[in-house]
Amino acid sequence: MASADQTIRTPSEMAPGDKKFLHALKGGLQKTPPIWLMRQAGRYLPEYREVRATCDGFLDLCFTPEKACEVTLQPIRRYGFDAAILFSDILVIPWALDQGVRFVEGEGPKLDALTSEQDLAALSDPTKAGEKLAAVCETVSKLSASLPKETALIGFAGAPWTVATYMIEGGSSRDFTKVKHWAFAQPESFGRLIDMIVEATVSYLSAQIEAGAEAIQLFDSWAGALDAASFDRWVSAPNRAVAERLRAHHPTIPIIGFPRAAGMNLYSYIETAGVDAVSLDQMAPLELIRHTVQPKLPVQGNLDPLALLTGGAALDGAIDKIMENLSGGPFVFNLGHGVIKETPPEHVTRLVERVRGF
Ligand code: CP3
Repeated sequence: MASADQTIRTPSEMAPGDKKFLHALKGGLQKTPPIWLMRQAGRYLPEYREVRATCDGFLDLCFTPEKACEVTLQPIRRYGFDAAILFSDILVIPWALDQGVRFVEGEGPKLDALTSEQDLAALSDPTKAGEKLAAVCETVSKLSASLPKETALIGFAGAPWTVATYMIEGGSSRDFTKVKHWAFAQPESFGRLIDMIVEATVSYLSAQIEAGAEAIQLFDSWAGALDAASFDRWVSAPNRAVAERLRAHHPTIPIIGFPRAAGMNLYSYIETAGVDAVSLDQMAPLELIRHTVQPKLPVQGNLDPLALLTGGAALDGAIDKIMENLSGGPFVFNLGHGVIKETPPEHVTRLVERVRGF
């Protein structure tokens, strides 16, 4: 049984200069796991809101390297996380393809929704995405030069399915009617859009790696919207295409997949999506994960962001349960989704202390 196998493992030696986060992604064990949080930079931090107030919109922040670098570093200074995640957004890919994208205060992202084959044909050359997003890659270079030596730098992109949902729905969606209808009714043309996003994502992530990103996370936030067959075709296969093409040029850069709300499809995902580690949402049952997923791949997650917002005994209990189940194998502590903006910053202090003192 896998758990028996885990109990005989001992913390493997980290070579001098190894970073805790990268060691865990290589399958290494440590006394306490590395920790970082999705959306660790953001509106719950007063110092973020201060920088954000000086920007002419959210994309301006993403495309101004000095400011993007500063907000990436803020949670590292405050909490000493083991990894920093580049400050940008998954919707810079539609922007680089010349689709209209804006962030409306209090409403979230708004895109000029694609509605026809002609709209697809009007998108620009995806192989140029890395060049068009040179400002974001400059943020990566700056970070690479300014992070503490023990802190790893994560680059990221949205996975193709999740990016496609925004491009076709024109923003956030509850039921994904338009994008699913397109994928079901015209799989060939939907496949062309997915292929374009794969191409743009490979170009963009290669540029991030060349600028200094040491690991990559692919966010498939809406993976849970699809039936099993569609999941294989539009979630796992495009994740694999991105992973394989990146690995061909950058074989040592670990790739973390985050197929949020995949449920049972998590099992086919870990076999076929080509990722080196998997990030779990808070719905994933810990014991099952420990026995069936962690023996195959390092796992990351999966504290409920609402437990972090709540704090107190509810937070402590949830942390302990995760640590008891997952800290015996290759593991990175994280949330099941991003930090909620109303989260008191001191709850994050409590979380980091508890994980490190476990
Ligand atoms: O600290 C970090 O995690 C790095 C930066 C980061 C942001 N977005 C900054 C951001 C990352 C990794 C993302 C990923 C992202 N963006 C995802 C995947 C993860 C997830 O949350 O599921 C998605 C789906 C998006 C798209 C997006 N960006 C939405 C739907 C919104 C609006 C919702 C909201 O929270 O306001 C954004 C805006 C956004 N991206 C903000 C931040 C800090 C808030 C905007 C602001 O400061 O005005």
